[in-house]
Amino acid sequence: MLSDLPSLVKVAREQAILGLYNESMTKFEQVLTMLTGKDPRIQKVRVEINEEYNTIKKLNSIVQRFKSQNSYIPAPVKATSPDPGVFQFGIPNPNYKAPSDNLGRFAAAPFSHHEEHEEPDSWAPPKAPEFKPRVPGNRQQPKPATRPKQPPQQPVKKPPESKNSRNYEKPWRANAVDPKAEEKSKEQNKANTFIDSIYPDGVGPDLDLIQALERDVMEKNPNVSFDDIADLDDAKMLLQEAVLLPILMPEFFTGIKRPWKGILMFGPPGTGKTMLAKSIATLGQTTFFNVSASSLASKYRGESEKLVRLLFEMAKFYAPSTIFFDEIDSLGSKRGEANEHEASRRVKTELLVQMDGVGGADDDKKRITVLAATNRPWDLDEALRRRLEKRVYIPLPSDKGRKRLFDIYLSSVNHKSDEIEWNHLISKTKGYSGADIANVCREAAMLPMRKKLIQLRSQGFNPQSIAKIKSEVEVPVTMDDLKEALSNVSKSVSNDDLEKYDSWMKEFGST
Ligand SMILES: Nc1ncnc2c1ncn2[C@@H]1O[C@H](COP(=O)(O)OP(=O)(O)OP(=O)(O)O)[C@@H](O)[C@H]1O
Ligand SMILES: [Mg+2]
Repeated sequence: MLSDLPSLVKVAREQAILGLYNESMTKFEQVLTMLTGKDPRIQKVRVEINEEYNTIKKLNSIVQRFKSQNSYIPAPVKATSPDPGVFQFGIPNPNYKAPSDNLGRFAAAPFSHHEEHEEPDSWAPPKAPEFKPRVPGNRQQPKPATRPKQPPQQPVKKPPESKNSRNYEKPWRANAVDPKAEEKSKEQNKANTFIDSIYPDGVGPDLDLIQALERDVMEKNPNVSFDDIADLDDAKMLLQEAVLLPILMPEFFTGIKRPWKGILMFGPPGTGKTMLAKSIATLGQTTFFNVSASSLASKYRGESEKLVRLLFEMAKFYAPSTIFFDEIDSLGSKRGEANEHEASRRVKTELLVQMDGVGGADDDKKRITVLAATNRPWDLDEALRRRLEKRVYIPLPSDKGRKRLFDIYLSSVNHKSDEIEWNHLISKTKGYSGADIANVCREAAMLPMRKKLIQLRSQGFNPQSIAKIKSEVEVPVTMDDLKEALSNVSKSVSNDDLEKYDSWMKEFGST
């Protein structure tokens, strides 16, 4: 990747020279995101490139201001006028002298569409440009979001003219060698956040995006343990094998035994896929990034592709990391569909590229594992499917699993275990998902309270007085309540869907 850098920088500079500031900025941004790592040489280059980038950003904002001032129509300019009002950021400048540079030339141009403007018979010859150094601070510029550490701006030096040199300003040259670069790179080594590591000054092109990622995507502690999850022993073992063991015993997972780069959990809705991923985050052995399609798409329209790149850069920095893409079908559906949006195609491509880079690290500590979950595996793009090497089916709970689910969800409710006909419950809930069983238990837990409330209301109790007799409302859950709840809550996964999962599992799944 670094080998592309010189050519990227070259193109970025050429575009800047041609005035294609937006394109140039995008290239520079790409370069900056590539320049990561603690190597002081890389840090030094990064500081220099950042200076260039900022200069181009400033130039661009000046140009944008000119464009946004199109509605401003200056006073008619006549050649005979000794001192035309100059169009400087939309404000007629009473102290206007002669045009001093290219900007001046533009400024003095006549605006022919002004109604009252009369064309002069002849225009005066252009005045010789008079060199006038820019005085910093005489314009009202918006303050950049910087920390005070930023060194003061150097005055722009004019490059010496020579026959071969191209005649354009290279203001970034003045800032190219930063005497404090070494000091900064030392500081850098101490950096323990991604932002500090890539933007030691606290300024950079994608600061807001990175902050958003750190805020929304880095999972702190979701607090779900393996014991909270019923059944799914195979999936639990596989996740441990793929995510935890390579960190604990790296020497074993080498060569052909390298850990899986990507794992896909697929299965009907409500079977515990998201819970399983969260339990991996809770174990805390890896930095966990929880990415849902919404955190990549809605908020940062048009930036999603960049977000994917930053996400993987960040994961590399905090490695060993696990990146979890929940509902990956919405992010990585098949490419080339008729209704596919160009932006979403670019996101998919970026995801494929980044996933190829995963697992390439020689250092085990730098490992990234991609975890994904979906209940529509058949919608996945083939290339993405290939990269998710291990595809695990998360099925509906077995008999044993359903018993465990009842135990988990009734443990917090008052009930008499020996009065409950477990076998009846287990056979009646065949085909129910974990989420369905949680709903049955919730419903059963509410029923006695609901009945008691109706009874109390009929006796003339109002809600306030009911609150005083809480103990009467908290009635234990009985087998009748559970049966009634069962008739109220039906299963949510159809047999047709189950067949689809089975056949996809046969075709593409792993065991
Ligand atoms: N195996 C399980 N053990 C414990 N609870 C479960 C299990 N499966 C599902 N649940 C319950 O169902 C809810 C939904 O689970 P989860 O979000 O993990 O499902 P999912 O497989 O990710 O579903 P979807 O495919 O719709 O995203 C959980 O909050 C939990 O209450
Ligand atoms: Mg889920």
